[in-house]
Amino acid sequence: MLLRLLDELMEDELERILFREEQISERLDQLAAEITADYQGKDLTVIAVLNGSLIFMADLLRRIPLPLQLDCLRVRSYYDGKVTTGKVAFDASTLPDLRSRHVLLLDDILDSGHTLAALVDEFRAHFKPISLKSCVLLRKNKARARPIEADYVGFNIADEFVVGYGLDYQEHYRNLAFIGVLKS
Ligand code: IMP
Ligand code: MG
Repeated sequence: MLLRLLDELMEDELERILFREEQISERLDQLAAEITADYQGKDLTVIAVLNGSLIFMADLLRRIPLPLQLDCLRVRSYYDGKVTTGKVAFDASTLPDLRSRHVLLLDDILDSGHTLAALVDEFRAHFKPISLKSCVLLRKNKARARPIEADYVGFNIADEFVVGYGLDYQEHYRNLAFIGVLKS
């Protein structure tokens, strides 16, 4: 039943599948190993950007055997269809004191760079963690509106609009187990 529904959805609305479940899983093993090695013996706090990184976060963190802490930050990027307006809003006031922590920001995708740049600016200015790095599942190969790069990248992709595995188009498709390109 579910598979049939997904098949129909794919046929109608997706152009193609970009990364299957197994490919994502394999890449997460490598990414987690890298992060685990880098944060050995450090007080790590992961800040996951909601909603997009929710599934990525859950799968990645269960592969990182470190005594880390987790917090989530709801961030809204305002969209005009598939194009960001550059407006980013979040409320970091609920986060704990991070001055003695190594902070790793987790986001679903690096696109224009507005979101990550705004977060990095805010964290550097107000939270002053010992270190601040970022990790994205996907990184679009394109010129960015803000000059920012992520420290850890799952996959580099072309400048296409993708959905699934947490990523949405107008709040749809987040629960797909794979990542696909939406028909334009
Ligand atoms: P940026 O601020 O333009 O780098 O993009 C930040 C947010 O836009 C991401 O966290 C996503 O939520 C959303 N986004 C950007 N590109 C895509 C895409 O291809 N599919 C789904 N969401 C996207
Ligand atoms: Mg979105």
